[in-house]
Amino acid sequence: MSSPVRLGIIGLGNMGNSHAQQILQGKIPRMVLGAVADLDPEKLKRCPDTPGFATHQELLASGKVDAVVVATPHYDHTIIGIDAINAGVHTLIEKPLSVHKADCQKLIAAYEKRARKDLVFAEMFNQRTDPRYRKLRDLLKSGELGEIRRVNWIITDWYRTEAYYASGGWRATWAGEGGGVLMNQCPHQLDLMQWLFGLPKKVRAHCQFGKWHDIEVEDACTAYLEYPNGATGVFITTTGEAPGTNRLEVATDRGRIVVEGDGLQWTRTAVTVSEHLRTSPNAFSTPERWEVKIPTNGWGGQHNEVLGNFADAILDGKALLGPAIEGIGGVELGNAMLMSTLWDRTVELPLDSAAVADEYQKLIAKSRHKKKVAAGAGASDFANSTKGLAK
Ligand SMILES: NC(=O)c1ccc[n+]([C@@H]2O[C@H](COP(=O)([O-])OP(=O)(O)OC[C@H]3O[C@@H](n4cnc5c(N)ncnc54)[C@H](O)[C@@H]3O)[C@@H](O)[C@H]2O)c1
Repeated sequence: MSSPVRLGIIGLGNMGNSHAQQILQGKIPRMVLGAVADLDPEKLKRCPDTPGFATHQELLASGKVDAVVVATPHYDHTIIGIDAINAGVHTLIEKPLSVHKADCQKLIAAYEKRARKDLVFAEMFNQRTDPRYRKLRDLLKSGELGEIRRVNWIITDWYRTEAYYASGGWRATWAGEGGGVLMNQCPHQLDLMQWLFGLPKKVRAHCQFGKWHDIEVEDACTAYLEYPNGATGVFITTTGEAPGTNRLEVATDRGRIVVEGDGLQWTRTAVTVSEHLRTSPNAFSTPERWEVKIPTNGWGGQHNEVLGNFADAILDGKALLGPAIEGIGGVELGNAMLMSTLWDRTVELPLDSAAVADEYQKLIAKSRHKKKVAAGAGASDFANSTKGLAK
């Protein structure tokens, strides 16, 4: 394919428009804005000099794009993603890949059956560009940290106001968004959890629905995880706490490594914990340890880096930072937390995707909550939100 990639953006709301403006400002090498589509004609005015379409079908048939980003409400990721793949257009899906595992499987099945074998299928995993998580992954993969014993992620700095939830009719509803903090804010961390540590085999979670906000979906969750090697995990999140915390702490056989603020802090044991525990003759001794500060530079290129990598994958066959087929892992983890709450028991992975899809249908059917919608957070507020994403 010849450069530049002509990108179509489907859904020109907060996120789609942010991508569009970055491309129009020339921030993404070898990518231009070919067309945009939004059901709301007012949104198309955000890109007045770009061909605009009322539907994704018209955009896909227009011949004006080589690739698309799907930045619509979540259930449409599946439908539009499948249409884009079938149209032979390179496809980048905003997070989450879909609301639940069965929809992810449908999308992945469409990709696996694609006629065009060089089709690039990516997901907007912008937090995978953060050098702190990349470094942690390298250290884990290299064996330097030894076996993982415990993982704790407190990710409670996703604070959102009532005005945020009122800013879109689809937000924080079972039918529109398919969930709350696990479905909108935490797909980043849920993906990183599976990217760094793999999927647990068991999950016991307690989601709380509308605990801090006038919404029907979860705005708080505490989950206990068990991994195949016996390691345990705790994942705590909410959109109702301020200032909130973002601390990832991993206990391994070589001490403890923490991602909080700048860089990584590794308290490294001189010998492995397991060896010391077995061989020390002293009842109360602890392993000798060294404080290792691992500096990293900034928060990574985030969304623009993912867009640039998408162009590189299309034009040069470069490996993707976030292959979309990996997106099912974080979705399954979030689904497991919700299902554990609804079924009031420990759930085992892999989940039965049909049972999860049924549960979503029941949640939608039973929904009686009257959603408040008001003029609220707009694109100007959203700029603050994307800064927060790097934290
Ligand atoms: N990667 C990130 O950091 C990040 C941040 C925020 C949002 N997101 C994701 O981006 C997506 C959109 O979120 P948002 O905050 O921009 O929502 P939004 O409500 O601001 O925008 C959604 C837009 O999609 C349009 N739309 C709805 N259905 C459509 C359809 N079938 N065809 C075409 N247009 C349609 C709406 O009219 C609206 O303009 C979601 O998946 C969300 O989770 C990602």
